[in-house]
Amino acid sequence: MSNNKITTATIRAKKARGEIITMLTAYDAGFARLLDEAGVDMLLVGDSLGNVILGYDSTLAVTMEDMLHHVRAVCRGASRSLVVADMPFMSYQVSVEEALRNAGRFLKETAAQAVKLEGGKEVVPAVKAMTAAGIPVVGHLGLTPQSVHQLGGFKVQGKDFPAAQRLMDDARALEEAGAFALVLECVPAKLAHKVSQQLSIPTIGIGAGNGCDGQVLVTHDLLGLLPGFKPKFVKNYRTLHIEVMSAVREYIDDVRKRQFPAPEHSFNIDDEVLEKLY
Ligand code: KIV
Repeated sequence: MSNNKITTATIRAKKARGEIITMLTAYDAGFARLLDEAGVDMLLVGDSLGNVILGYDSTLAVTMEDMLHHVRAVCRGASRSLVVADMPFMSYQVSVEEALRNAGRFLKETAAQAVKLEGGKEVVPAVKAMTAAGIPVVGHLGLTPQSVHQLGGFKVQGKDFPAAQRLMDDARALEEAGAFALVLECVPAKLAHKVSQQLSIPTIGIGAGNGCDGQVLVTHDLLGLLPGFKPKFVKNYRTLHIEVMSAVREYIDDVRKRQFPAPEHSFNIDDEVLEKLY
């Protein structure tokens, strides 16, 4: 491991120093390299892979094999950022034993340094087993997309007292179970801030206001690579889908007009050689 590699200790120390943590999703080596070089602290190989890369309309179909394949690629591109592997739906819900075995696969078969899983008290036994085995865990509360059918859609969570208290209790339970960080997705900003103040581990928000200890976004949303629906919590720092479409249209046009490849993109051969051909 290189000297400047970010570790779970670095992430915890950032919270202690009041330094904001940055996290972005990555699904392949090329993007991982760019994000790592740009200075992002953590790369999440999210199961958003299902929507963003594999073309599913939810994360539910993503498998362990899909995740392992993409986590390996991201690890090959990341030299400094801490890589977190998202545990896909049904890889940790059936039993603690299966959860532990699957979490262990990410650390044994890839160079990921941590796993993430969704849920509160119900996943505490799995989180305890993983941390006892030396597997760092990131929790995930609020809108947990793997439970989209139970939640009745992609809605803000924790708005009334029972739901807000449940979220606070779940956050404390995950911290006690050994999670070293916690993603809070789509929860009211003031609730996320209060949870962040109550915990000693860092919270990383997405749609959870700016009172968290860090922020995460889906990289393709940040870059505006996906045209169409944009949730309220997403900021498109660029609209690259427009750039991509226009570049591809220029390429098609150039090729059709025989303007690409130009002489500077082509290789030469001596005329003598050509003349000898029969
Ligand atoms: O899968 C994912 O990308 C995530 C983030 C949105 C937190 O879980």
